[in-house]
Amino acid sequence: MGCFQSRGADSKANRIARWRSTGIVALRDAKLKARQFSFLGSSFFLFVYIIHNSSVFEIPMDISNLVNMQRLILATNLIERLPINLGKLQALKVMILDGNQITSLPDELGQLVRLEKLSISGNMLMSLPETIGSLRNLSLLNVSNNKLKYLPESVGSCFSLEELQANDNLIEELPASVCNLVHLKSLCLNNNKISQIPPNLLKDCKALQNISLHDNPISMDQFQQMEGFQEFEARRKKKFDKQIDSNVMIGSKGLDEVLIYNSAAFTVLIGQWLHIFNNIRYQGTWIG
Ligand SMILES: *[C@@H]1O[C@H](CO)[C@@H](O)[C@H](O)[C@H]1NC(C)=O
Ligand SMILES: *[C@@H]1O[C@H](CO)[C@@H](O)[C@H](O)[C@H]1NC(C)=O
Ligand SMILES: *[C@@H]1O[C@H](CO)[C@@H](O)[C@H](O)[C@H]1NC(C)=O
Repeated sequence: MGCFQSRGADSKANRIARWRSTGIVALRDAKLKARQFSFLGSSFFLFVYIIHNSSVFEIPMDISNLVNMQRLILATNLIERLPINLGKLQALKVMILDGNQITSLPDELGQLVRLEKLSISGNMLMSLPETIGSLRNLSLLNVSNNKLKYLPESVGSCFSLEELQANDNLIEELPASVCNLVHLKSLCLNNNKISQIPPNLLKDCKALQNISLHDNPISMDQFQQMEGFQEFEARRKKKFDKQIDSNVMIGSKGLDEVLIYNSAAFTVLIGQWLHIFNNIRYQGTWIG
């Protein structure tokens, strides 16, 4: 059993009963002190595990018992590494690890073939494993605010990718394989070291509506001269007729603003998350 603290009327027994009936463990701001926490054994039929904003250092190996878990949310903790038996979590669709201290991801990540959302922003990643290319159902990858110098070539095999966020890293170049991402809608690479992007990007990524490249050495000229720029522009304008500020602004540092910003889509995304969090917090029953 774990080291969860209980307070007041919400006794540990009550909590465990609730977790068992809903399949959702939610501990937010629980101030867990434990260096390690336990996943409460294998008898629980858990779908969702949330331990947000605590001091969890380590994910124990018995996590592999949670074969039905679909969402694992361990944002804002002190986790340094992921267990190598991670690949056992074959039901996992969403994994949120933002704001930890993770320096690398195990190759076993590639076994999580059902993964649709992986968010691991605000960590210390220096690279991503090549096996990430096995995540064929991944639609959102958020690796913003890490120490990445490059993205692996295999990222181009994540065919379902719609949104790639890699702001605030040290990326110098994108692999040519990103041109294979035909579902990619949004590519955010603010504050990196990118001086050029693959020449076919705008031509091949036919779903692309949003590229954000603030604070990179690439120039607006370079961007506008890319093959497919007109089509990209047309797509962007057509899709977001109303919301878009279609001005291209060139800042002193080069390409300061590659426009866009479909606020509607973004709202939908945020709305989804709020919906999920609210349900977990207040009802705990949204999962089917
Ligand atoms: C990937 O997504 C598709 C469509 O939603 C689904 O049919 C397929 O089973 C998924 N693959 C895995 C490995 O879950
Ligand atoms: C990605 O991570 C950044 C930094 O934590 C965050 O601001 C952003 O909202 C995240 N984006 C998505 C789509 O999750
Ligand atoms: C496009 O990127 C900007 C900057 O990261 C973001 O604010 C906006 O929500 C994105 N739009 C879409 C449709 O993802």
